[in-house]
Amino acid sequence: MSKNILLIGSGGREHALAWKIAQSPLLDKLYIAPGNTGTDAVGRNVPIKVNDFEAIKAFVLEKNIDMVVVGPEDPLVRGIYDYFRDDPQLAGTSVIGPSKAAAQLEGSKDFAKQFMQRHGIPTAAHRTFSAENMEEGLRFLETLKAPYVLKADGLCAGKGVLILPTLDEAKREFANLLGGMFGNASSRVVIEEFLSGIESSVFVLTDGRHYKILPEAKDYKRIGENDTGLNTGGMGSVSPVPFATEEWMKKVEDRIIRPTVDGLAEDGLDYKGFIFFGLINVEGDPKVIEYNVRMGDPETEVVMLRLKSDIVDLFNGVIEGNLETKRLEYDPRSAVCIMLVSGGYPQNYDKGFVISGIESVQDSIVFHAGTAFDDKGRVVTAGGRVIAVSSYGKDRDEALALSFKGAGRINFEKKYFRSDIGKDL
Ligand code: AMP
Ligand code: GLY
Repeated sequence: MSKNILLIGSGGREHALAWKIAQSPLLDKLYIAPGNTGTDAVGRNVPIKVNDFEAIKAFVLEKNIDMVVVGPEDPLVRGIYDYFRDDPQLAGTSVIGPSKAAAQLEGSKDFAKQFMQRHGIPTAAHRTFSAENMEEGLRFLETLKAPYVLKADGLCAGKGVLILPTLDEAKREFANLLGGMFGNASSRVVIEEFLSGIESSVFVLTDGRHYKILPEAKDYKRIGENDTGLNTGGMGSVSPVPFATEEWMKKVEDRIIRPTVDGLAEDGLDYKGFIFFGLINVEGDPKVIEYNVRMGDPETEVVMLRLKSDIVDLFNGVIEGNLETKRLEYDPRSAVCIMLVSGGYPQNYDKGFVISGIESVQDSIVFHAGTAFDDKGRVVTAGGRVIAVSSYGKDRDEALALSFKGAGRINFEKKYFRSDIGKDL
């Protein structure tokens, strides 16, 4: 039975999801709210904000939407899943995503830590503090070794983790966080042990009982070459990840993935969607750095290339609770993504620059992230991360060569990208 699908979000992740969904023979109509200039080419954009649940409901009823796929974390943490589940008028529509309670895995670092402790899932040792026991927190910092890891408990658009080289800075920032640096989101602060190792991301799709493991990926978070400078949303990604061997993935599945999915069921946390495991390899042993309750960006821009199976069929398995009967096949090729960003990002940058050359890129898949139409109908920059150039290759080097070629052909004022993506592996 064919489906009408509404995808929520507007970044490169959503363009990649839309691109994949649009290939499904099970799809009838695809809408994206609000989308970008790229998603409009594979579906139809609708000008609805991701947190405007009432407008989303009205649209779902008007267009007979069967399935709402949620890209970003914000509407999930605000409870879009529960909003649909609890409204009898919306009984015919399923949401791909976790319930509000389960979304706390991303929405509260302290919740995630307690969940991992409860279910024996390996992660950095930690303690959580608030204004009431701030003095205790300062004393706790004195017992740790540098560098110091401080995490605001709540959502801070990826800015809530501070890694500080000296005790003085750690104490100062700890006080700043509790003093309201991120408002309510930092009214509680997790102090945790620093872990050293290579990071990678593993994604699963779950129906709440069964799970399927998607192709793994590594992203490049820092703005500068050789992982220097400020953290960004992500400057590029690769899949597969060479150190994610069969042995490593078995440890990840046995120690982290299965206990997480079982733990959700045990705790009565309703979860029908993607789980993103941010992992670190500590001398061969995987530990969880963070959970996200959505796909990664720019990881999705390579994971969707390597997912061979029909994603809508997998979503049907999630909704019907029979995901174990579905096949999930990987494309054996490599995939990489290079992110073109606005000069100045992740700090201040200008928008509205005309983007040229997109149509000249034939050997890569161009996913739009921060793009918009101007009043003359031209595609212009509209965000920090502007365009992701994704490519296949028989190996990583071949894919990288294609993406760098494409990255050179697309132009806009103050364009910047990292030319060392994938070169460390
Ligand atoms: P998060 O937002 O939790 O992913 O943290 C952002 C980044 O901070 C991670 O990708 C890691 O590079 C780093 N990080 C977070 N927690 C730790 C830790 N316990 N030890 C070392 N690095 C960490
Ligand atoms: N690329 C990391 C994230 O999506 O959180």
